[in-house]
Amino acid sequence: MMKRIYIQEVVTRDGLQIEDQFVPTGQKIDLINRLSTTGVDKIEVTSFVSPKAVPNLKDAEEVMQGIERNDSVTYTTLIPNVKGAERAAGCKTDEVNLVASVSETHNQKNVRQTVGESFSNFQDIASFLAGTGININGTLATAFGCPFEGSIDEDKVMILIDKYLELGAAGITLADTTGMATPKQVYQLCSKVLTQWPDLPVTLHFHNTRGMGLANVLEAIRAGVIRFDSSLGGLGGCPFAPGATGNICTEDLVHMLVFMDYQLNTDLDQLIGLSKHLEMVLEHEVPGQIIKAGKITDPHASVK
Ligand code: COA
Ligand code: ZN
Repeated sequence: MMKRIYIQEVVTRDGLQIEDQFVPTGQKIDLINRLSTTGVDKIEVTSFVSPKAVPNLKDAEEVMQGIERNDSVTYTTLIPNVKGAERAAGCKTDEVNLVASVSETHNQKNVRQTVGESFSNFQDIASFLAGTGININGTLATAFGCPFEGSIDEDKVMILIDKYLELGAAGITLADTTGMATPKQVYQLCSKVLTQWPDLPVTLHFHNTRGMGLANVLEAIRAGVIRFDSSLGGLGGCPFAPGATGNICTEDLVHMLVFMDYQLNTDLDQLIGLSKHLEMVLEHEVPGQIIKAGKITDPHASVK
């Protein structure tokens, strides 16, 4: 029996945060409601950040309160500080996703704090959330490389994972913010992390900026990781990282894994349909490849 792989959809957070246009609240809610029926395991709905920093997600409360919840989906939201935690808790988020960068420079650009300041804020967030039943996931951005600082020391990643666990984080996400991870590096770091913490739910969050995204997924699986963030159509990118481009594309990821016989809950055809719908909503093409090429089981008609 092949492994069960968990698909965590981030298009309405990572995807929409960097779009040139504000997607109307009703369209966001409709998209999330449709995603909730595709079998994805988690949806990162939005982020409760400063509306000045990320105007596209200024409607976070309305979106969270407007969606229909599916019991088999975890609805998570990204937060940078206690104010974000208060807003998220007010909307009954299942989980909050904290984010700090391994690189000081990127943390400064992203949340205008030192990494130390971020973690001291996280203490306050953890105290605020204690007893609410809301889980904490800890994301480490630029975990495989930083667009400002270049390579990232693995030991720094290990130390910051430990800090998240001390706060009570239930899971950890290693994010490759600008697609700098190589498959070799992914195998190495994931193996190290899972050797240290064999039962830790680890998510890999890859961007396909340098075309290594799906290769990185396969090496992460080989190292034992079973949870992946991905974005419908391959949208996405950090507005505070130069040269950022989209996440690995959900339907391309699911297509690869399904045809490798991995076990997934997701309905590939529904995802492909939804990605085409997303192109209509945005009125531009999305980077995903399967919606252009079709599945490997969709032969073209042979014209005589
Ligand atoms: N939700 C809504 N508003 C918030 C907020 C939150 N979580 N946190 C701060 N604000 C508001 C403050 O109330 C203040 O508003 P005002 O100017 O009307 O008084 C303003 O934002 C600035 O607050 P301050 O605490 O001084 O923050 P800052 O300017 O140092 O910015 C962050 C820090 C973290 C709030 C901001 O950089 C941010 O939201 N970044 C988002 C990063 C992001 O989403 N990156 C992509 C995903 S990784
Ligand atoms: Zn991202």
